[in-house]
Amino acid sequence: MKLFLDSAKVDEIKHGIEMWDIDGVTTNPKHVQSSGKPLEQAITEIAGLFKSTKKPVSVEVNPHITDWREMVDEAVRLATISPNFVIKIGVGEAGFKAIRELANRGVRTNATLIFTVAQAWHAARAGASFVSPFLGWREQHGDDALELVPEIMQMLTNYGYECEIIAAAIRNGRQIGEAAIAGAHCVTAGFAVYRDSFSNPYTTMGEGIFQQAWDATPKV
Ligand code: E4P
Repeated sequence: MKLFLDSAKVDEIKHGIEMWDIDGVTTNPKHVQSSGKPLEQAITEIAGLFKSTKKPVSVEVNPHITDWREMVDEAVRLATISPNFVIKIGVGEAGFKAIRELANRGVRTNATLIFTVAQAWHAARAGASFVSPFLGWREQHGDDALELVPEIMQMLTNYGYECEIIAAAIRNGRQIGEAAIAGAHCVTAGFAVYRDSFSNPYTTMGEGIFQQAWDATPKV
């Protein structure tokens, strides 16, 4: 399962590259806002961190755009900034049309804000490279967080669509594990979620026990 960092903060991404060997980045307008930088500067700096790699960086089109032609124009413009950019398109009738047009032009897309298998199917059928079911949002509103992943996987397998599932809006280490068990191709989560997923109170307790034993044991 590929590890994508959900962030637009250069310091977090640099840490993710150096320490976690991340496979790519997903951004969204909220992450760009929290980076504190103007959009173009933020995404260009991120692109620079992945120069000469094939690692994908998802960047989102203006979410106010409702016309598919405008979505395509903006997506093409963004895609010319960096070959690493995968363009996030919000799903909906216009979004699916834009994804299809972009696929025809060789621009990779990430269908974002997916909440049903039907939406994932429209996106895959239109030629999206990635679909991003927002699992944490589902859970927050009372639905099972992870059941969507095996269902989308089954749909992709049934028809041989070359589209990868990004388990998105992941909130904790348990959900990372569940996404892997469910067979998601990729997972994306925030910096703190990954950092917390490395540790466990029992691990810390165990280290203390072993350190005590180590200290109490003669070495020669
Ligand atoms: C995924 O690509 C999204 O950027 C992300 O998971 C959105 O959810 P969140 O900001 O609520 O985690």
